[in-house]
Amino acid sequence: MRRIYLDNAATTFPKAPTVAKSMVEYIEHIGGNVGRGTHFSSYTAGSVVYETRELLSKLFVFDDPMKVVFTMNITQSINMILKGFLKSGDHVIITSMEHNAVLRPLSSLSKEGVQFDVLQCDETGFLNPEIILKFIRPNTKLIIMSHASNVTGTIQNIKRIGQICKEKNVYFCLDSAQTAGVLDIDFYDLNLSALAFTGHKGLLGPQGIGGFLISTEFANEIKPLIEGGTGSLSESEFQPSFLPDKFESGTLNIPGIFGLNAAIKYILNIGTEEIRNKEKELTNRFLNKVLNIDNINVLGPKNVEFQTAVVSIDFKNIDNSEAAFLLDNQFGIMTRVGLHCAPLAHKTLGTFPKGTVRFSFGHFNTIEEVDYAADCIYKIANSQV
Ligand SMILES: Cc1ncc(COP(=O)(O)O)c(C=O)c1O
Repeated sequence: MRRIYLDNAATTFPKAPTVAKSMVEYIEHIGGNVGRGTHFSSYTAGSVVYETRELLSKLFVFDDPMKVVFTMNITQSINMILKGFLKSGDHVIITSMEHNAVLRPLSSLSKEGVQFDVLQCDETGFLNPEIILKFIRPNTKLIIMSHASNVTGTIQNIKRIGQICKEKNVYFCLDSAQTAGVLDIDFYDLNLSALAFTGHKGLLGPQGIGGFLISTEFANEIKPLIEGGTGSLSESEFQPSFLPDKFESGTLNIPGIFGLNAAIKYILNIGTEEIRNKEKELTNRFLNKVLNIDNINVLGPKNVEFQTAVVSIDFKNIDNSEAAFLLDNQFGIMTRVGLHCAPLAHKTLGTFPKGTVRFSFGHFNTIEEVDYAADCIYKIANSQV
């Protein structure tokens, strides 16, 4: 059976063409640790790791590669920022479309006296930025939110939110899981304090590599959660206070960084504009087809200008899990069903607790695949399977 991968919001597949080759090159021909050796292998690995910090700085229009910190994924980045920064009595603002990567650490911190407000988004998942003004208090320290929803693709007006954060002197942390590599993100233009990223989605890299870019001012206020060997200041009993070492204890995922390096070069070469245009074309085609199908409810903005390549569908005549099973089993179409680690988002959309079937397109999908998926949805919704 032919297989069509429409689960790119979970992780993109395939990866950028040169990713695997770059990882194999490191494992088979380089092999050294970074910052821990005074030999060729270590220097070669170190130069690629540094170049990857430079590439990320270029992609996100950031001024200092040394303030690019590597982690395993965006969940780890967000945990390090929230748990290293917030103290009892601090107040945080999030939106009702957040992923559990934001909600769960904050819920856990709320047991230690951190307060947070969840601002209600509309039925398409969009937050009116002006609402934020009503919720900022003297103890509000941070706004953390996703750039776009992983359930509906809804893109937030982060430019305005960044302005509000600047005016009100509140740190602004962006979860770019669904937008990095696809939408333009300019660190300073958006007034970001931290930009958390994950390598395996729109950045087209491997799993197990992520990180964050951070301003000096914000980094100075964050305690490292993990301390240990950095290859620097080994004579000191204490963790170095400079970046990126402050937050990078232990051996990095160097094969992952080699893969990410190749992926970002691929993205910079093609350009985010072309990547976004292709994804818009695919999503537009899909929306035009599925919006004409009876017995399904299409969630989200339903307009490619306001969303990424993510469309959630609620089947009316058949259980969503059954529909996702049929899509995979009968037609070879891979989607993701359920709550997508975003229960708050589904509550906002009115699809909690049953969830939706999520179709998420990527750079390597084709119009023909989109048409085929829409035809299969029609058959399932109209009991023709
Ligand atoms: C908006 C959003 N935030 C956070 C995450 C977590 O990403 P990771 O599993 O790479 O840490 C995801 C992944 O689904 C996401 O879509």
